[in-house]
Amino acid sequence: MSSINYSEKIPNNVNLSEDRALQRALEHWQPNYLQWWQDMGPDGSQNFDVYLRTAVSTTPDGWAQFGHVKMPDYRWGIFLNAPEQDRQVNFGEHKGEAAWQDVPGEHRANLRRIIVTQGDTEPASVEQQRHLGLTCPSQYDLRNLFQVNVEEGRHLWAMVYLLHKYFGRDGREEAEALLQRNSGSQDNPRILQAFNEETPDWLAFYMFTYFTDRDGKFQLCALAESGFDPLSRTCRFMLTEEAHHMFVGESGVSRTIQRTCEIMKQLGTEDPEVLRTHGVIDLPTIQRYLNFHFSVTIDLFGADQSSNAATFYASGLKGRYEETKRTDDHQLKGQHYKILEVQGDKLVEKEVPMLNSLNEVLRDDYIKDSIAGIGRWNKVIEKAGFAFRLQAPHKAFNRHIGTFAGIRVAPDGRVISEAEWQANVRNWLATEEDRAYVASLMGRVVEPGKMANWIAPPAIGINRQPVDFDYVRFN
Ligand SMILES: [Fe+2]
Ligand SMILES: [Fe+2]
Repeated sequence: MSSINYSEKIPNNVNLSEDRALQRALEHWQPNYLQWWQDMGPDGSQNFDVYLRTAVSTTPDGWAQFGHVKMPDYRWGIFLNAPEQDRQVNFGEHKGEAAWQDVPGEHRANLRRIIVTQGDTEPASVEQQRHLGLTCPSQYDLRNLFQVNVEEGRHLWAMVYLLHKYFGRDGREEAEALLQRNSGSQDNPRILQAFNEETPDWLAFYMFTYFTDRDGKFQLCALAESGFDPLSRTCRFMLTEEAHHMFVGESGVSRTIQRTCEIMKQLGTEDPEVLRTHGVIDLPTIQRYLNFHFSVTIDLFGADQSSNAATFYASGLKGRYEETKRTDDHQLKGQHYKILEVQGDKLVEKEVPMLNSLNEVLRDDYIKDSIAGIGRWNKVIEKAGFAFRLQAPHKAFNRHIGTFAGIRVAPDGRVISEAEWQANVRNWLATEEDRAYVASLMGRVVEPGKMANWIAPPAIGINRQPVDFDYVRFN
């Protein structure tokens, strides 16, 4: 089960060749996928040999194989974690039943919606990032970008497999539609707004992979708990790939901060204007990027009170983060959760039924996890001897979904007037000038081992290769 068959047109560990109709349907989808990759995948990369990792098994020890691969030849395939013996539905009204190997009829529409929404984010991020290769700060970073891109492509495969195998004709139509919507498109945009935003520069890319790929982690963790076993197994393997994406984000921001601190020390100043004349990204600008990405990403968890969230949980489709590690009754009926609400010019806590607040529960878990990494970034600043600290903004700041949509809240959590917002927003969210400045730093650096001036080199290379290894051969 864990080893992957690479002799087939579509590599897989699901015995695809035993289901000829499914195999044919997916082989029919495959050229459309490759066409999408040509049209919407990484700009100008078709001929490069890239040092990529490819999954060769799904066991924790050594699933990855590294080697130079032309990206259009990457072996995208279908890899599910091995089934867990006698797995059960672990929460909701079906708790204790055997996990479903097929889609229960009454949950079909909801499950399809969950899978399509998750699936839609995967190609969206490839589209958002497609021009970044042209301005990479190093060959190492270029390789990491491409690694993230091919794996997001594989995540699309993961969801398309489920749609094809379990949802018949509707599923096949949804799989086609996943290749037709495009990030930022006027007529046919991606489903979730954060996936229609541009990722215009590398600081935005690192923030995206730190914050938004982490949303991916939390969604996948919640779906890995699903009573629908194939979804659970698929998500478990996707999570092992996701870890690298968040590493790229965390280390990318960290290296940016490190380089800025080096110049701050050298010049003995924290003045953004002076630092900008030396070609590094001042910490207040990094904070404004952080505020933007954090707030846009926490919107992805949806409304704070949601009857859909309650339904998905009660019917065993989508659990909580680390559901099976929790010690409550996994039913949550009659339990409550504190959410925030605006009363006049104050945010006040209000107790609401837990089942309806599961979006908020997941968002709060996400926020905890995000803040931990911000603390690690601050260590870099502290070590350099500066007092500046990065901070996550209040969760009500700059929200467009849920109770806080349309309400002005400062990063410190004060409810403020429109006038105060307008007077300060330039200090809180990246401005056109910030973005233009960051864009002005983005030049392509591809000489092995060389870094753009605004970023420090990584501590170690990929797969224990040296930092100046030829991660990308341009041919
Ligand atoms: Fe993904
Ligand atoms: Fe990802």
